[in-house]
Formats: sequence, C-alpha cells, structure tokens
Amino acid sequence: MNNNIDFYYFSGTGNTMLIARKMTETFIENGCHVNLKRMELSNGSNINIENTIGLGFPVAILSTYTLVWEFINSLPNVQGTEIFMVDTLGGYSGGLVGPLRNILEKKGYKPIGSCEIIMPINIFFIQDKKTNDLKIRKGLEKAEKYAEALIEGTTNWGRVPFFSDIMYLISIVGFKLSAIDLHQKYFKFKTDKSKCNNCGICIDICPLNNIVLDKYPVTQNKCEYCMRCVSMCPRHAIKSILTYKGNTYSAVKANDFVKNKTDRLD
Ligand SMILES: Cc1cc2nc3c(=O)[nH]c(=O)nc-3n(C[C@H](O)[C@H](O)[C@H](O)COP(=O)(O)O)c2cc1C
Repeated sequence: MNNNIDFYYFSGTGNTMLIARKMTETFIENGCHVNLKRMELSNGSNINIENTIGLGFPVAILSTYTLVWEFINSLPNVQGTEIFMVDTLGGYSGGLVGPLRNILEKKGYKPIGSCEIIMPINIFFIQDKKTNDLKIRKGLEKAEKYAEALIEGTTNWGRVPFFSDIMYLISIVGFKLSAIDLHQKYFKFKTDKSKCNNCGICIDICPLNNIVLDKYPVTQNKCEYCMRCVSMCPRHAIKSILTYKGNTYSAVKANDFVKNKTDRLD
C-alpha cells in the first residue's frame, strides 16, 4: 500500500469516528502519513489521486447515508488509485461492500481492503454501557488488526454477488423514499421546549445544516436520521421516533463534531 493515506469518513454518533481514529493511529505508528478528514466537510472531486484513499461510514438501513453515496459518486475517475473501506454496524449490513466495490472499480480504483466492524447500536434499543463498552473494545481491536493488515498487504475486498446487489437496490429505493416530504413529516425530530435551552449545539453539529433556529431549533426536510443531534443534545431535548423510551447513544462528545474543526486525534 502507498504510505500516504487520505482517510475520509462520516460518523453520525461517533462509532465510525473512533474506528477511523484508531486506524489512523495504527497507520501513523507504522510510518504512514495520514490525513483524516470528515466527508461532510470535504469534496470527493478534490481528492489527491496519488494517495491511498480510505472510506469509513456507518451502515444505515442496509446501505449507508445519501451524503456518503454523494461523496462516493463525486470521486473522480482514476487509473489504479488504491482504495480501502471500513463500515461500522449494529449487526447486518446487507452486503453493501459488493456493490460499492463495483462502483469504485468502474471509476478505475484498485480496491485493496474492506472490513465491517460491529459497534454499539445507536437507534431504537440502545444497550447497556457494559455491553457497549465491550463492543467498542472489540471493535477497536479489529480496526487495529485491519489497519496492520492493510499495511502488510494481506487484506482483500470481497463481494457477495447477486444477493448484495439486490439488497443495494432495495436500500437505494428506501433512501429515495426517505427523502420525500411525507416521510420527513412523520419521522421529523421535534424539540422539547421544556428541556431545550437554545444552546445551538444541534444546529452546529448537524451534518446537513438541516436545523434552524425559530425561537427553538426546528428540523427541516433533509434529515438522513444519523441521530447525531438526538444523541448529542446535552439536555436530551430532541425527541425522535427512532429511540425507545428516549434512550440515546453516542461514542464521543458533541465537541468532536463542531464544524470549524477538521479532525484531531485525542
Ligand atoms: C437510521 C439508522 C439505520 C441503521 N441501519 C442499520 C442496519 O441496517 N444494519 C445495522 O447493522 N446497523 C444499522 N444501524 C446501526 C449503525 O450502523 C451503527 O450503530 C453504527 O456503528 C453507527 O455509526 P456512527 O456512530 O458512526 O454513526 C442503523 C443506525 C441508524 C441511525
């Protein structure tokens, strides 16, 4: 692998951020030069095609978020630029690594490794802290081994033919449906005015700039349900149909997502 790595990731609630940071740490310990960048603050068409490209993202509805696909679709056509991917998930991804490989190969990339890492679930049934801590520990161990294997050149990017392509199509249709206003109407996150103190954190950290202030924060119509605002609100003031009993999960603090920061290793 080329030792100059540009690693782009998206993370809703911090799991993928932890994994991307762990891999970056491991690369650096092994003499690589790494730029770790957030997809939401980057433009795929501006990548440096001389470097190895890394992609990290969460699984969402057996696919990933539209903003991640938009980043991937905006990547330029190249001749053999190395690329690897890592996704984080609660349990089942539907095999999206296969279709993603196809898309990247058509653009001329050389897929050198894919890896899926189970991390705590950040939607509906949030598990207890002990269970989540164990998942994070195992996830970080897997991330470290994967980064070492990428350096050693012992990884591959497998694919699950046919089945994964069908899952991919279903999920793309699912996301297209999620973009229509009706869907946004029923799943819209709402501010609990009795709890909100207008700190503005949700507005600042929303990756889609989808929250505006109208006396209280109001969610507009391009939410992709990454759960960042719901999970990071210090007062648990954002109500969502996607949580159970109001329980939320986040792997990092809201400060890690503030927009004027690029990325940093703690
Ligand atoms: C809207 C939504 C959809 C999800 N869909 C799936 C899924 O299809 N399969 C799965 O295994 N996990 C799913 N998850 C769980 C996340 O993939 C998992 O918790 C991930 O590690 C979150 O990463 P992040 O903290 O970087 O956002 C979903 C989470 C959300 C918020």
